This record gives sequence, structure tokens and C-alpha cells, in this order.
Amino acid sequence: MSETQKREIVCSGIRPTGNLHLGNYFGALRNFVKMQDEKECYFFIADYHSLTTHPTPDNLYGNARQILVQYLACGLDPDKATLYLQSDLPETIELYLFFNMNAYLGELERVTSFKDKVRQNPNNVNAGLLTYPTLMAADILIHKATKVPVGKDQEQHLEMTRTFAQRFNNMYHSEVFPLPQAFNFGSELVKIPGLDGSGKMGKSEGEGNAIFLNEEDGSIRKKIMRAKTDSGPTEMNQQKPVEIENLFTLMKVVSTPDTVEYFNDLYNRCQIRYGDMKKQLAEDMIKFVTPFRQRINELASNEEYLRRVMNQGKEKAHESARKTIDEVRHVIGYRN
Ligand code: TRP
Repeated sequence: MSETQKREIVCSGIRPTGNLHLGNYFGALRNFVKMQDEKECYFFIADYHSLTTHPTPDNLYGNARQILVQYLACGLDPDKATLYLQSDLPETIELYLFFNMNAYLGELERVTSFKDKVRQNPNNVNAGLLTYPTLMAADILIHKATKVPVGKDQEQHLEMTRTFAQRFNNMYHSEVFPLPQAFNFGSELVKIPGLDGSGKMGKSEGEGNAIFLNEEDGSIRKKIMRAKTDSGPTEMNQQKPVEIENLFTLMKVVSTPDTVEYFNDLYNRCQIRYGDMKKQLAEDMIKFVTPFRQRINELASNEEYLRRVMNQGKEKAHESARKTIDEVRHVIGYRN
């Protein structure tokens, strides 16, 4: 490919914090899968970042592997995108060190995610947490990525990535780094609500709030049947309360339009029975989740394949990272 035909470079990381749920799939992964066909994609598992919360050696690799399995089960293709473990790319740490030399205590302390962590865990305010944004900047800029598919909660980190990139460029009178932007692919980002009737689907809201991609049928049924509802509509065509709207949103992603229409109609005529709706939702959810669970189980037992995927990703990521680091070292003044 010639210089002018170069594809846009996309990079995103995911923290290995357990099983992926429907919210992760519709909010991120499904879009990653689409991007891999059109862009030069680097997707990695952030197993350096995870050290800020001190996992034990027993589960560090296992957690990362589990995420890889789920990425693959969702359709990410190691021949299209570069899939790798952050800890397989030590060039990232070198760039992290360079960024840390020009990152200021004041600006790092002002980061919202840092302040939240300090509040939540006052006994574990480590330098890794403080410098989380410089590591994230290194992750992205090591590949000179310009597009970063992340959620709203990462906007501030991305702004800092641009700050560090610009500062480096200014400092060394160079144009080494682009200024990456948050990026949503298409208009299909669906925010998946949780089952507890409040905000979005998430793990931290309690086990019962999320449906995982490897969830067993019985457990899906149980969770959905327990989802919060109200005492039912009392007026024709009345507005739905949040918890009911949430059930409909979930139904829209896993059921046929006819099914949604059917229950919506019953709701509008005050004839809905939530038990029936939930039963239908549970069965459609099971149909949706089953192939994911099957692929996850198959992949999880294929260590040889996973190793091959990790090595392939490592090599591709290394190639891209090496170029950047060589350039960076040169610009900084190293001549070795
Ligand atoms: N901070 C991101 C999160 O919490 C994870 C992450 C680490 C990341 N490095 C990244 C995301 C680089 C995008 C690009 O979800």
C-alpha cells in the first residue's frame, strides 16, 4: 500500500476484569468487529493497567486469556486486526517512561478517574494509578493511532493523550505523534441497560444486573425473571417508566421486531403481563447468547490456538511499536 492509501490507525484497550456482558458487546465489541475490515486495528488487553489494583499472579494470565477468548468469540479476527497482550509489548513501557518525564503532578492529580480511585481506595493510591493516563497515551501513540473507540468515560484520558502528544512534539520540534480522537463507528452504539431498573449494564452494579456472553440458560432465565418491573400501566399509551423501557430496549436487541411490537402494543393497551414478556425475552436472550457461549467454551479449551493468536499479535504489534520507539529515541537524542 502506498503512503497515500494508508488506512486509518485504530487502537483500543480493554481491562481484563472478568467476563464480557451484553453491554460490552453492543457498546464496543460489535463495532471493533466491523472496524477490522476497514482500518488498521490494534486491540489489546490492558494487563499492565490491571496491576494498579494488584491482581495475584494466579489470575493475571488467566484473566487476560479469558478476555482474548471472548474477543475472538465475538468475531475479532487475528488475521485482520492485531490482537495482543499489553505486557507482550514492552515498547509501551519505554514510551510511558518518556511521557512521564513531561507529565506534571498537578494535571495527573486533577484527572477524574484518579480522584475517584483515591476516594474509593484511600489505602492504595499508587503511582500507577496516578500515571494511568500516561500509560494509556503510550498504548495509543506507540502505534500512532488517530482513532480510539472508547466510551464517554475515557474522554478525559484521551484529552490527556493529546496533551502529551502535543507536548512531546513541541518539546522536540517534531511531528512524531498525531492527536488521536475518540471514535464511534457508525451510529450503531447501543447503550444496553441493566436489569436492576437503573442505569447501564455493568458488573459493578451487582451480578444480577448483567447478562454475560458465556451465561448459562438457567441463569439467564433467573436474572430476567427477576428484573425490576412496576405494577403495570394504568392509562392507554402512557410513557414507560425507566425499568420497563429497559426491558423493551433489551428486547429490541435480541428479539424480532414483531415480538417487540406485540408487547409494545399490549403495553399501550394496558394488557401487558410482564411475566409473559420476560419469558419471551429470556428465550430470545438465550438464543442470542448460546452461540457466544459455545464459541467461548471451544476457544477456552484450545490453548495451542490461543498461544498462536497471542504470538501473531505480539509480532505485528512489535513491528509497529518498534518503528515509533526508534523514531522517538532518535528525536529525544539517543544515538545508540
Ligand atoms: N482506560 C481504558 C478503560 O478503562 C482501557 C485502556 C487502556 C485503553 N489503555 C487504552 C482504551 C488505550 C483505549 C486506548 O476502559
